[in-house]
Amino acid sequence: MRKNVIAANWKMNTLPKEGVEIANKINHYLADKELPVNKKIVLGVPYTHLIKVVDTVDYTKIAVAAQNCSQFESGAYTGEVSAAMIKSCGAQYVIIGHSERRQYFGDTDEVISQKLSQAYKNALFPIFCCGETLRQREENVHFKVVENQLVSAFIRVDRFNFERTIIAYEPVWAIGTGVTATPEQAQEMHIFIRNVIAKIYGHDVADQTSILYGGSVNGANAKSLFECDDIDGGLVGGASLKPDEFIKIIESI
Ligand code: PGA
Repeated sequence: MRKNVIAANWKMNTLPKEGVEIANKINHYLADKELPVNKKIVLGVPYTHLIKVVDTVDYTKIAVAAQNCSQFESGAYTGEVSAAMIKSCGAQYVIIGHSERRQYFGDTDEVISQKLSQAYKNALFPIFCCGETLRQREENVHFKVVENQLVSAFIRVDRFNFERTIIAYEPVWAIGTGVTATPEQAQEMHIFIRNVIAKIYGHDVADQTSILYGGSVNGANAKSLFECDDIDGGLVGGASLKPDEFIKIIESI
């Protein structure tokens, strides 16, 4: 079933205590609400917060994500955190291929593909990010760029594993800038992404895939984005650190 997903990406923000406070507020808001089975709330938190946030939230309503995982299984990789370690903290999801990882930490398409395979091996659900830079959009190569990111990530992934995947389209020029893609720009790319998935896995799988939009989503613009046919939710950075704003976004879907 294609799910509507609102995922938070706290990035490298909050100390564990502050993170638990945010998680508590969202948990409290959801406590007396019936969440439809096709609606998921995911909190993407720093590694240091995983266990505490997992312990704070009602797991039937809120799932927890790490924001990255190692491409390696285990061993002498100082400072790395494996997918198995993340899973053992009670997290169910992992964000993979975020543009900040690609830009600052050398996450190439090859590394991202290895991280995806670690996520699948350890029964985590990946939230795979793709998106073009401003320059690429201005040069009119944005569709090609996103297609290449998708093909290189999934060409070796079988259908069973792909069906565990959530896609997040995050144009780099919209991340943390306050500039949001218009609903038309986002919808145009989302349908393109769905068609790329259909070429790899067929229309049935593509129809069931949740494709989130990310990039300066807030309480004011969420609804117009989520109303688009192929936008199944959002990956939310800055606004996810403000519980009231994040709740507005949850209410917009
Ligand atoms: P933003 O970040 O909502 O602050 O633009 C989104 C993201 O990077 O996932």
